[in-house]
Amino acid sequence: MSHTLHPLRKQRLQRSELAVPASNVTMIEKAANGPADYVFLDLEDAVAPPEKEQARRNAIQALNDIDWAAKGKTVSVRINGLDTHYMYRDVVDVMEQAGNRVHTLLVPKVGVPGDLYMVEAMVNQIEMAKGFSTRVGLEALIETALGMANVEAIAQFGGRLEALHFGVADFAASMRARTVNIGGLNPDYPGDQWHAAIARMVTACRAYGLRPIDGPFGDFSDPEGYKAGARRAAALGCEGKWAIHPSQVTLANEVFSPTDAEVTKARRIIEELRSAEAQGKGAASLDGKMIDAASERMAKNVLVIADAISG
Ligand code: GLV
Ligand code: MG
Repeated sequence: MSHTLHPLRKQRLQRSELAVPASNVTMIEKAANGPADYVFLDLEDAVAPPEKEQARRNAIQALNDIDWAAKGKTVSVRINGLDTHYMYRDVVDVMEQAGNRVHTLLVPKVGVPGDLYMVEAMVNQIEMAKGFSTRVGLEALIETALGMANVEAIAQFGGRLEALHFGVADFAASMRARTVNIGGLNPDYPGDQWHAAIARMVTACRAYGLRPIDGPFGDFSDPEGYKAGARRAAALGCEGKWAIHPSQVTLANEVFSPTDAEVTKARRIIEELRSAEAQGKGAASLDGKMIDAASERMAKNVLVIADAISG
C-alpha cells in the first residue's frame, strides 16, 4: 500500500435508500416501517415549489416524532440545491429544529468542493449554537457534468463527507444524453452508457474513504431491469442503490447482501490462508483457484457487509 491511506470515513449499512417526498406524510410513515436501510426525506426535486415549505415542516416533524435509529434506519434529508432560495432555509430549519435527530444531509447537484464547504460551515455553526452533541454527516449527489468533472476534488473535501451518490437522471440531463428515462440502458449504446461515469465516481469514493451509492431507476414496473442495474453497480463497488418505489427496496437489499455461499467462501479463503501461513506460504489454492493476500482483502470486504447486516 501507499503510505497515504484514506480509511472508510463512516461505515453505515446503505443497501437500499428509499427516496420519499417530504410533502407526503403517509409515505414517510410507511417508509419508517418498511425494510429500507436508509430513508431520505426529499425537499428537492420530488417536491413542487408550492409544497416546499410544508414539506420542510413535515420532514422536521417526522425527524422528531419517529425514532428512526430504533427502527434500524439511517435517516437523511435531501436539501435543495445551492442555486435555489430554499437551500439556506432547509439547512437552518432542519438543523435548528431537528439537527440532533437527522443522521445526514444529502446535498444535490454538488459541482465544486466549495458547495460542501458552505453546508459544512452552516451545520457547524448551528450545532454549536444549539449545543448539540451529535454531528450530522454530509452526502453529495454527483449528478452534473461539473460535479463529475470535479469528482476527485469533491471526494477529497473531508469534513463530514461520508458518501457520494450517482444521480443518473440529472446527470443525463446535464450531459444532454439522448434519453428521457431515469436510469436503465439505451439500446443505441453498446453496453452501459453510464459505466464510465459511475466507475469514475466509485474510484473517487474508494480512494478517499467514501461510500459509493447508485441512484434511481425510474421504471418501477421493471424489477429485472432494476436488479440488473443494481448488480452492475455492485460489481463496480457500490454499496447500495436508491429505491424510488417501495417495491425496489427488497430488490436492493437482495442484490447488495452477500449470499450465504459468498460468506462461506469468504470464510474459507481466510481459513485456508491462515493454514498456508502456518506452513510459511503466502499463497494457497481453494477449489482449484489460486488465493493470496489480495483474496483475503476481498473476502474481508464481504464479511464487513455480512456483519453489518446481522447487526
Ligand atoms: C437524482 O437526483 C437523479 O437526478 O438521478
Ligand atoms: Mg437529481
